[in-house]
This record gives sequence, structure tokens and C-alpha cells, in this order.
Amino acid sequence: MIHEALRYTLLLPGKRLRGILVLAACDLLRGKRDSALPFACAVEMVHTSSLILDDLPSQDNATLRRGREVLHKVVGEATATLAAVALLTRAFGVIQGNRAVRDKVRNEAVEVLSLAIGTDGLIGGQVVDLESTGRELDLDGLEYIHSHKTGALFIAAAELGVLAAGGNNRDREALALYAKNLGLAFQITDDLLDYSGDPGVTGKDAGLDREKTTFVNLCGIDGARQLVDDLIDASVGSLLPFGKRSALLQALAEHVRRRDR
Ligand code: IPE
Ligand code: IPE
Ligand code: MG
Ligand code: MG
Ligand code: MG
Repeated sequence: MIHEALRYTLLLPGKRLRGILVLAACDLLRGKRDSALPFACAVEMVHTSSLILDDLPSQDNATLRRGREVLHKVVGEATATLAAVALLTRAFGVIQGNRAVRDKVRNEAVEVLSLAIGTDGLIGGQVVDLESTGRELDLDGLEYIHSHKTGALFIAAAELGVLAAGGNNRDREALALYAKNLGLAFQITDDLLDYSGDPGVTGKDAGLDREKTTFVNLCGIDGARQLVDDLIDASVGSLLPFGKRSALLQALAEHVRRRDR
């Protein structure tokens, strides 16, 4: 039963964007796929864990995820919570099991991922997101939430791809900046989809952010779209030193600019 619960949300058709980011960053630097794949899986496991928790009644109280009923409606809140914790824990086991890279790389990957999830990363952003529900926020406050709850894992994904490929610090800085801007743009498009997306296409509820400050109600639809454009332009700009080899990462950014799911 618990294993079914672990597989349920994980294996439903998410976009796998963060996992693709790990692989594409590694490819860009001519790393081996085998070195990056366990890191990509770990990042997707962490992401899925965060979605299961985010959907709970005590957080966003969602009903739909990846086109299906949320996990806690299927197995109950206790098992859903345990499944999320198990996925999160196992993700670090998957990193440690990556025998295609050296010990030093594995250890650094653990450090990068744990910091991205923690109180100065995804969890820090989620806490402020939940505490701010029903309150007004300014642009800085909202950017803090979005860049932490979502941006931190995007940056970690890019860095894990660089680590898997054995990239240098300059590569790491350029790709982290790409991912920072992409992650923030991604969460603004998520706000736009909560406002006007079609649950039949996004696979999740719309209108759950009504009590929250979002980029849509702070900047308006046009203002939010303009910000997305600026952030995507900036993220693509960070790829310039890589030339044509960055075509996949460029396409990923263009996808985020226009996405409807
Ligand atoms: C949803 O992420 C949570 C956010 C950070 C907005 P995704 O939109 O990437 O969800 P999946 O993985 O495709 O289901
Ligand atoms: C969720 O942000 C971010 C994390 C799960 C860390 P949202 O609450 O906006 O994501 P959705 O819209 O439920 O996918
Ligand atoms: Mg949320
Ligand atoms: Mg949510
Ligand atoms: Mg959302």
C-alpha cells in the first residue's frame, strides 16, 4: 500500500521539467547521461514529494494533481504524508547510489539538494507562502516566496547537471543564473495558469490562489506576462557563452514562456 502511494503521484504524467533540466545541463557540458540520470530522478522525487505535501488540506487543500485525484484523497492524509517523506528520503539514497560519479560529486550533490529543499530554500518559501495567505505582500515579498518555493529546486537541478558533467565554476554560475530566472518565470506562469488555466489541460485545480497575493493580482495579467518575458529573455541570455549547444535549454525556456500546462 505505501509503495503504491509512493508511485501514484510520482508516475502520473508530470512535465518532468526539473529532471530534464538536470539532463540538459549535463548534455550541454558533454557529460554522460548515466552520470546525470540518478540526479534527475532524485530531483523529480523531491519535487513530487513537495507536491503531495503542498496539496494537503493544511496547505493548499487541492483536489486534482497531474490529472488525477490528489494522493491524500486516495490513501488518506497520514499515508500521503508518509509517502512524501519516504520519497524525499529515498531521493538522497538515489543520489548516493549514483556510482557513475566520484564520491566528491555525490557528496556535493547531497549538499546542493538538501540546501535547496531546506529552510533557506523550498521549505522556507512554502512557509512564507502559507503564512502570507490572506495578507497583502509587496513585490519583494512575493519574489522571495516564488524564488524559494520554486526557484531553489530549479537552481539545484541545473547545478546537479553541472556536477554530473564535471563542469567548472563558470559553467555552474551561468547555468545557475539561467535556472534562477527560469524558475521565477515558471512560478509566475503558474500563477497565470491558476488564474486562467484550464484544469482539463493543466491537470490541477484553478483558482486556489484567490486568497493569496500572486503576480497576477499584484501586476495584472499584462504586467505578469511582461515579467515572464523579461525573465525568459534574461535566462536565455545566460546561455550565450554556450552557443548552439544550448538549443535544448533555450527551447525549455521558450516552452515556459508559452506554456498552457
Ligand atoms: C508544480 O510544478 C508546482 C510548482 C512549482 C508550480 P509543475 O507544474 O512542474 O508540476 P508537474 O511536475 O508538471 O506536475
Ligand atoms: C507549489 O506552488 C510549490 C511547491 C510545491 C514547492 P503552488 O502551490 O503554486 O503549486 P501548484 O499550483 O499547487 O502546483
Ligand atoms: Mg502552494
Ligand atoms: Mg499548490
Ligand atoms: Mg500554483
